[in-house]
Parts: sequence; structure tokens; C-alpha cells
Amino acid sequence: MLDIRRLSLRYPNGKLALADFDITVGAGELVIVLGGNGSGKTTLMRCITRTLQPSEGSVCVNGTDLTRLTGERLRCARLELALISQHASLVRRRSVLANVASGALGRYGSWFTALGGLPAMELHLANGYLAEVGLGHLAHQRAGTLSGGQAQRVAIARALAQRPRVLLADEPVASLDPEAAEDIMKLLRRLAGEENLAILCVLHQIELAYAYADRVVGIRDGRMAFDLPRAEVSPDEVRHLYLSRAA
Ligand SMILES: Nc1ncnc2c1ncn2[C@@H]1O[C@H](COP(=O)(O)OP(=O)(O)O)[C@@H](O)[C@H]1O
Ligand SMILES: [Mg+2]
Repeated sequence: MLDIRRLSLRYPNGKLALADFDITVGAGELVIVLGGNGSGKTTLMRCITRTLQPSEGSVCVNGTDLTRLTGERLRCARLELALISQHASLVRRRSVLANVASGALGRYGSWFTALGGLPAMELHLANGYLAEVGLGHLAHQRAGTLSGGQAQRVAIARALAQRPRVLLADEPVASLDPEAAEDIMKLLRRLAGEENLAILCVLHQIELAYAYADRVVGIRDGRMAFDLPRAEVSPDEVRHLYLSRAA
């Protein structure tokens, strides 16, 4: 589903933040990327969404190479990818349901929404996504009243409303307490299977990677250090990711 080949990115200041990176995530699969600060994890995510134009390599989603697209074709292809990050970034004064439904906006032209918002069907679907993340009962509450863990669930429901094939998550549990973090990882695990989503998730917590990943990919200095089924990842290998950064 998501197929990245030989991806490299050099920032304008000359820093090679990503070098020859390969990764594949199949539908229904949860792949977790581990790496120290500054190892290139966010750069990888930005290259996938084409917020950054990679210097080299390809990013194929369902067989279409995003790095070769521009304009409207790029915009449409990007709808296949949803991104969540550390911050849920909800519109606090709007209802939870409105926040979820806004995930579908990209599927409609701006002229459409300028004419009075989303079709009723989208609100109906948004209710379903909200139920899927376990928060159906909070649909009409203002988003600003939610806890961190609840807000992140709403952000995930908003991502589902976009109806992507690939979900990218850049440290989605970094600002949550351990219990809420576990809950979010369980949810991502379940959604990969139930929604047949390809999920690529950056984490700092090694133990969460061990518990929830199908595969774990290590990144060090912008290069892939390993790509293994979780049962085959050795603690030493993971420790090495963090130790060798200063070298
Ligand atoms: N805009 C930028 N210009 C130059 N270097 C950058 C820029 N953004 C990030 N970097 C550098 O690229 C490397 C990877 O950064 P990043 O992808 O944010 O790492 P991570 O998300 O793994 O912490 C770091 O050394 C960082 O300092
Ligand atoms: Mg980062």
C-alpha cells in the first residue's frame, strides 16, 4: 500500500536528514519507526506527505508515485494519506462531531464548503467514526473540554473521516500519560485490522513498539538501521539506535 524506495532528503543548509530510506507498509499492517531525536523521523513523514520535496526516491501509495505529481493530481493522491501528530490540533470552540466531520473537507471542493458546509451524509459518517474510537457519547461536547487522550482519539476519528488508505502518526502519544498512550496504541492496532489501513507510526517508547507493532523499523542518522518483525528485534539493536547518535 505504502511503498517507499531510496528516499533521500537534503535540507537547503546541506544537512542530509534522510538517506536511501526504504520502507513498505501493507494494508492492515502497523509499522513502528523508532529512532533518537534528530534521526530523521519527522523528515520522513514530511517527505511522505510531500510537505517536503524529497531530493531523491519514490513514495508510492497504491502504486501511484506522489513525488512525480503536482497540482490537482497531487492534491487528490494526498487524500489517501492522513497524518496525526503529537498535538490533536482540534478547533476547541467547535463540537467534537464538527471536528471529526472536518476531516472529510478535502474530499470536496472549496466551492462546495463555501456554499454551506458538508453534506448531511458526512455528519452521519462522522458519528460512526467517533463511535469507532469510543467517543460517540461526546459528539456534541465542545472539543476544548476534552482530555489529552480523548482529543487524540478525536484527531484519529477526524483522520478516518478523510477515508485514507494510509495513516501516518508522528509521535501520537508523546504528550499523553502512559495509560492514555496504551489506549491510543490499542486503537491504532485495532484500526489497522478493521479498516485495513496501512499505519506508519513514529514512537519514542520502545516498550509500546514491542507491544503493538507488526514490524519495527529503526532509523539512525537518516538511514535505516533495521526492519524486523517485532519478535525479532533485540533490545541491543534498539539500544544501539539511541547510543550511537553522538558518534
Ligand atoms: N528545516 C531544516 N533545516 C535543516 N535541518 C533540519 C531542518 N529540519 C530538521 N533538520 C535536521 O534534520 C535532522 C532530522 O530532523 P527530524 O526529522 O526533525 O528528526 P526527528 O523527528 O527524528 O527528531 C536533524 O538533525 C535536524 O536538526
Ligand atoms: Mg520528530
